[in-house]
Amino acid sequence: MLNLAIYLLLAGSAWSLTTGSSCIDGLVPVKVSADPIKFDLPPPNSQSDLTAFLTRLTSETSNVTSAIKGRAVHLEATYNIWSMLCIPAGFPQNGSGIVEFAIHGINFDHSYWNFGGPGSPYNYVDAALEAGHAVFIYDRLGVGKSSKPDGIQEVQLATEIEVAASLVDILKCSNEGCTGGAGRDTFISEIELKNATFIGVGHSFGSLQLSGLASKYGNLFDASILTGFSSYSGGQKASLVAFGLTIASQQNPKRFGSLSSSYLATEGIYNDQMNFFRYPSFNFSALQLALDTKGTLTIGELLTQSTSPALNYTKPVFIVTGDKVFIFCGGDCYQALNGSGNLIDSTNTLFPATSDFSTYIPSETGHAVNVHYSAPGTYREIQAWISKRFGDRTSHSV
Ligand SMILES: *[C@@H]1O[C@H](CO)[C@@H](O)[C@H](O)[C@H]1NC(C)=O
Ligand SMILES: *[C@@H]1O[C@H](CO)[C@@H](O)[C@H](O)[C@H]1NC(C)=O
Ligand SMILES: *[C@@H]1O[C@H](CO)[C@@H](O)[C@H](O)[C@H]1NC(C)=O
Ligand SMILES: *[C@@H]1O[C@H](CO)[C@@H](O)[C@H](O)[C@H]1NC(C)=O
Ligand SMILES: *[C@@H]1O[C@H](CO)[C@@H](O)[C@H](O)[C@H]1NC(C)=O
Ligand SMILES: *[C@@H]1O[C@H](CO)[C@@H](O)[C@H](O)[C@H]1NC(C)=O
Repeated sequence: MLNLAIYLLLAGSAWSLTTGSSCIDGLVPVKVSADPIKFDLPPPNSQSDLTAFLTRLTSETSNVTSAIKGRAVHLEATYNIWSMLCIPAGFPQNGSGIVEFAIHGINFDHSYWNFGGPGSPYNYVDAALEAGHAVFIYDRLGVGKSSKPDGIQEVQLATEIEVAASLVDILKCSNEGCTGGAGRDTFISEIELKNATFIGVGHSFGSLQLSGLASKYGNLFDASILTGFSSYSGGQKASLVAFGLTIASQQNPKRFGSLSSSYLATEGIYNDQMNFFRYPSFNFSALQLALDTKGTLTIGELLTQSTSPALNYTKPVFIVTGDKVFIFCGGDCYQALNGSGNLIDSTNTLFPATSDFSTYIPSETGHAVNVHYSAPGTYREIQAWISKRFGDRTSHSV
C-alpha cells in the first residue's frame, strides 16, 4: 500500500502529461458488497477443456449459461484496486471541477486510457487534462495490478459494478462520512472532490458497467459516455469465437503465470485485429502495443454480459461507437433497428428516462476507438460534448 497523496506529490514521483498537471497512483483498498451469480462450473483443467466449453457456449442451440447458472450469492470482500488520479493545474477551482471516471474494457488494462504514454495521439487522459478535467483511471478487478480473486465466482459484472460504485464513493466523500472503505485515507486525502461533477466514461465492458451502474444507482454520475458499445448482441457469438480464447497462464507464463485457469487471454495479434481494429484505419505499431500490454478476462465476465434499462437515470448519455464494430454491431453499426437508422441510436432503449441522448459514430473505426487514427477527432467530439453541457465547471477556460 502506498501513502499516496502528499507523499507522491512532494517526493516528485508524480509525472506530468500536460503542462502543470500531475498524477498520483497506487493500490486503493475497496470494500465491496455484491451479489454475483454462483456458477456450477470448475476452472478448466486444460486448454482442451476450455475450448470444449467455448464450443458448447457458442453452439447454435446452446443452453450452457442457463444450465450452469445458479442463484446470486452474497459476497463481502475488500479488493486492492490499482488506481491513478490525474489533475490539471489549478484543479479544482472552487471545488467544483469535472472528474472523468474511466472504466476500461476487456483485453486492456488502465493503459487503454493513456495508450502510448505522454504525447501520444491515442492518449485520452491527455485530451481530458487539456480540456481542464481531472481523470481517474484504474485496473478493473482481476486485471493488471488489481486483486485477482476467483475468476468464475467473483470477477463478474455484478462485483465490478460495486467496485466502481465504491471507488466513486471514495473519490466523492469527505474524510468524515466516507462509507467506501479505507481507501480515502491512503489516496487523494487532501484533494476535495465532494462538489465535483462526475462523468463516467467507459469502453466496451466498461460501458456495460456504466449502463449497469445507471440501472442500479440512477444518477451516480452526472453524465455517462459509453464508447465501443451498443445494446445489440447479434455480433457476440462470432466475436467470442474470434477471440481465440486461451488459458492465460499457459499462453503467456511470463505475464500471467500466477493466474488461475479461470483467467483467459486472446490468442494472437490477428485475433485482436479482428475484434478491436478496423483495417487499414490503424497503425500496426498500435496493434502490436495492444498485444504486448493486453489484459486478461475471466470466465465469470464472459458469462455475465447482460444489460437492463436504467429506469431512474435522467442525466445526459453519449454513445460513441465506431461504424465497423464487430463485437457490438456484427461489423456494421448502420443496421436499422427499432425505428432507428443504426444500432447506436437504438441503444437509447437502455436509457428511457434521459432527455439528453446523443451519439457519435466515427467512420472506418473498429471496436477499440482509442487506438485508431480517428482517436484525436473522437476525443475532440467527446470533450466538446462535455464542454457544451458543463463548460462553466471546467477548472480553466476552454
Ligand atoms: C440443455 O441443458 C440440459 C441440462 O440443463 C441438457 O440436458 C441438455 O442436453 C442441454 N441442451 C443442449 C443442446 O446443450
Ligand atoms: C470561482 O469563484 C469566483 C468567485 O465567486 C468566480 O468569479 C469564478 O468564476 C469561479 N470559477 C469557477 C471555475 O467556477
Ligand atoms: C460544496 O458545496 C457546498 C454547498 O454548496 C458548500 O457549502 C461547500 O463549501 C462546497 N465545498 C467546496 C470544497 O467547495
Ligand atoms: C429493440 O426493442 C425491443 C423491444 O422494445 C427490445 O427488447 C430490444 O432490446 C431492442 N433492441 C436494442 C438493440 O435496443
Ligand atoms: C505509426 O507508428 C510509428 C511508430 O510509433 C510512427 O513512427 C509512424 O509515424 C506512425 N504512422 C502513422 C501513419 O501514424
Ligand atoms: C427508481 O426509483 C424509485 C423511487 O425512488 C424506486 O422506488 C425504484 O426502486 C427505483 N428503481 C430502480 C430500478 O432503481
